[in-house]
Amino acid sequence: MNLYAVFGYPIEHSLSPRIHAQFGRQLGITLVYERRAVPPGSLAQAVERFREEGGRGANVTVPLKGEAYALASMRTPRAERAGAVNTLSFADGAILGDNTDGDGLVVDLAYHQVPLSAARLLLLGAGGAAQGILGPLLDAGVERIAVWNRTPGRAQEWLARVGDARLHRPAADDSYDLVINATAASLGHALPPVPDTVFRDAVVYDLAYGPIAGRFLAHARAQGASRVLDGLGMLIEQAASAFCVWHGVRPDTAGVRALLRDELA
Ligand code: ATR
Repeated sequence: MNLYAVFGYPIEHSLSPRIHAQFGRQLGITLVYERRAVPPGSLAQAVERFREEGGRGANVTVPLKGEAYALASMRTPRAERAGAVNTLSFADGAILGDNTDGDGLVVDLAYHQVPLSAARLLLLGAGGAAQGILGPLLDAGVERIAVWNRTPGRAQEWLARVGDARLHRPAADDSYDLVINATAASLGHALPPVPDTVFRDAVVYDLAYGPIAGRFLAHARAQGASRVLDGLGMLIEQAASAFCVWHGVRPDTAGVRALLRDELA
């Protein structure tokens, strides 16, 4: 059986099974893709059981991406760089860890024709989600990235560790082409406390999608954002990249985009 799953906690609302089923239908690949609720600290046991059942690969979501990183016996360079794993492949006793999140974001921005080359970015957040996307954004040729975090010391420590001259702390008179919200503020129904002026004339992107991202994006629009985008496209593109890792072919995402967007509307 061509068995796959997504592990997370909670996991009931994950759209990944629907996305992968749709990709499989599109490409004529028969597969089973399940949701598995895995409490933090028990990913290793869950993976072992899943492999015994014949599982070939799994996606890993919040809050298990760090655990998946530690569990992998081999990691791709992009997973190493992200310090997190969202895609596991099982073969010959090995557990290969990959990370398709940053790739998913960059592909989604290209889909929406948001230029990254020479762009000035503001990245909100310095946690796992922010760290997972930084490498691919730098690779896309941005001019600079200002990193803001609620706890400034965490951002400073991270930027020092990465050591790229294009990274810096936000200055009061900075303006931005693109603002990306990678904080968990929306989950707590809060807005990241940044000056309203940062949104002016910028494309504003939230890694969250649907109603969770709604408040932040409405605020950004009210403060003069030129365009707002939620992370549904990133979710679909990271899934397409994971599908490609497992099946060797990248699905077309237009159909799934339309389907899920209609449902969230
Ligand atoms: P994730 O994997 O989702 O990034 P995380 O590693 O716990 O989770 O990081 C959460 C991020 O959201 C951090 O940048 C956090 O800021 P702190 O480092 O100051 O904790 C940020 N965050 C969470 N709640 C927030 C809020 N209400 N306002 C602004 N930032 C918030």
